[in-house]
Amino acid sequence: MNIIDYIAQNRDITREQLEAVLTTDDKESIEYLRSSARRVADSVYGNKIFMRGLIELSSYCRNDCLYCGLRRSNKEAVRYRLNEQQIYDCCATGYRLGFRTFVMQGGEDGWFNDERMCRIVSNVRKQYPDCAITLSLGERSRESYQALFDAGANRYLLRHETASAEHYSKLHPDEMSWQNRMECLHTLKEIGYQVGCGFMVGSPYQTIDTLYADLQFIRELQPQMVGIGPFVATANTPFASFPNGKVSDTLRLLAIIRLIHPHVLLPATTALGTLHPRGRELGIQFGANVVMPNLSPLDHRKDYAIYDNKICTGEEAAECRACTEHRIKSIGFETVVDRGDYKKD
Ligand code: 5AD
Ligand code: FES
Repeated sequence: MNIIDYIAQNRDITREQLEAVLTTDDKESIEYLRSSARRVADSVYGNKIFMRGLIELSSYCRNDCLYCGLRRSNKEAVRYRLNEQQIYDCCATGYRLGFRTFVMQGGEDGWFNDERMCRIVSNVRKQYPDCAITLSLGERSRESYQALFDAGANRYLLRHETASAEHYSKLHPDEMSWQNRMECLHTLKEIGYQVGCGFMVGSPYQTIDTLYADLQFIRELQPQMVGIGPFVATANTPFASFPNGKVSDTLRLLAIIRLIHPHVLLPATTALGTLHPRGRELGIQFGANVVMPNLSPLDHRKDYAIYDNKICTGEEAAECRACTEHRIKSIGFETVVDRGDYKKD
């Protein structure tokens, strides 16, 4: 049997098959992978693409991840944090523009402690009972995750970064632990969040084996969302001179993830759009079904500089939304005003 049919039918992939899919240069096989992934996405979600409004709360971060432009050791990074009113204003603009999911993302910034963050979440929850609230605020305690959930948050994005403990230790300083990251993801799931994990494609020291472990991890965790994008080498980080991740590998992995986990909510990420002018469109064509236009205030956009040359830093929320919609329509898909919840099997 053809490898791609095997992956789709078994919702599984072997290490050898992964290697074959990532190394082939046979155009027909790649096209078959793409169309199979798209067919699976269509069978669950149709040609609908969900939009999430992204609000970048803070560029302060206590962590020192070796790949990230916002790491605390980067003295060149410009730091800002939104005040509560700015956050509510972003939600109001987003709601007017048709967003029904707000993603509040930020570096691990102690200012957004439980008291402040719970107040923000519960105010947004009260104001927009029909919206989903997604948080992406890094590692916190079980008590904190629980309090935020009780305040009204529904979803949590925390990329696992790599399912190999050894690889994790090469991407992070000693004080960060892979075990804790894994524990956070399991805790979030236990509490009842819809959970998103994910990783960078082509991060330094990544191998076929670590990627295989990532895919196995996704099969075990069964997250509702998976965020992947290419690694982008970033100035003033220890990995500044490593090569960027490949767009083509990212597309193939998006398709594989769709095939092994058909119901997953899978964004075509900003990093993919950063390394290729039509990266997000290609992502959708390879099985992605979510896009996340930026709602952050324009004067801080460029300072949420996780990686270099990030797109969408000069556009107003309305422009970014219109641009996204145009791009999605141009390839024959439809954006929907909808919470876009995970569909169970
Ligand atoms: N290139 C691509 N993605 C990155 N991230 C952090 N730094 C980079 C980079 N240099 C991703 C990480 C993190 C998410 C917020 O952004 O996977 O979890
Ligand atoms: Fe943000 Fe195009 S999607 S400007």
